[in-house]
Amino acid sequence: MGGEHYAARAVDLVKVYGSGDTAVRALAGVSVDFGRGEFTAIMGPSGSGKSTLMHCLAGLDSVSGGDVRIGDTNLKGLSDNQMTALRRDRIGFVFQAFNLVPTLTAIENITLPLDIAGKKVDKDWLTTIVDRLGLSARLDHRPSELSGGQQQRVACARALVGKPDIIFGDEPTGNLDSHSSGEVLSILRAAVDEFHQTVVIVTHDPRAASYADRVVFLADGRIVDELAGPTQDSVLERMKSLETVR
Ligand SMILES: Nc1ncnc2c1ncn2[C@@H]1O[C@H](COP(=O)(O)OP(=O)(O)OP(=O)(O)O)[C@@H](O)[C@H]1O
Ligand SMILES: [Mg+2]
Repeated sequence: MGGEHYAARAVDLVKVYGSGDTAVRALAGVSVDFGRGEFTAIMGPSGSGKSTLMHCLAGLDSVSGGDVRIGDTNLKGLSDNQMTALRRDRIGFVFQAFNLVPTLTAIENITLPLDIAGKKVDKDWLTTIVDRLGLSARLDHRPSELSGGQQQRVACARALVGKPDIIFGDEPTGNLDSHSSGEVLSILRAAVDEFHQTVVIVTHDPRAASYADRVVFLADGRIVDELAGPTQDSVLERMKSLETVR
């Protein structure tokens, strides 16, 4: 039962967009594990396949070859309904653009996925998250009445409330100033350290990557390097050396 050790795994993942002369090989055989309770940052040049990898891992995009597993579940065998249920129950998302519903309050946004699924909200857990994210006084505000950082903290709370196997963030701090970025990254770090969650983010920012336990570097649809215990300096250095190799 390998599923006890990793939250998500890609094996020889290939993703080709389009066909014939216009085909783009966005992923050219990616194998990577995301251990439970681990915080991973994915980095690499624009167009290297970071979003594609994340979307394939999260079941938001089909794969052309290889396997994706979330825990013990191979996504390949799933029907559309099973895939929808898996995304809803076992995966959390935090997007660059927050993706909150503008007409709903913060608390309504946070519990929306559970409400849609007809699931009971664990009140104690909700209170824990909301307190830890510093949102208690903002729960009745709509997104337009919140700062960018507060909106992204609401999105983090929404991702956490269902206790998913893994939380994916595609440039979750891409639209935030450095103060708000720090807040959101601290929360993702705390989700791992205090709540034993598994987090994977895509980022271009060495400072954001330094919050992670390891960094996986992509180039041209392949994993080209990995760095454990990253610091801002070590990430920058590795980015530079990867550029000169190319
Ligand atoms: N829907 C699509 N149709 C065709 N090609 C696509 C599609 N989505 C992505 N691609 C191509 O696949 C490659 C990888 O794209 P991807 O979005 O994964 O890159 P990325 O590393 O996330 O880049 P960025 O840092 O700019 O977000 C690129 O060459 C891109 O043009
Ligand atoms: Mg991208």
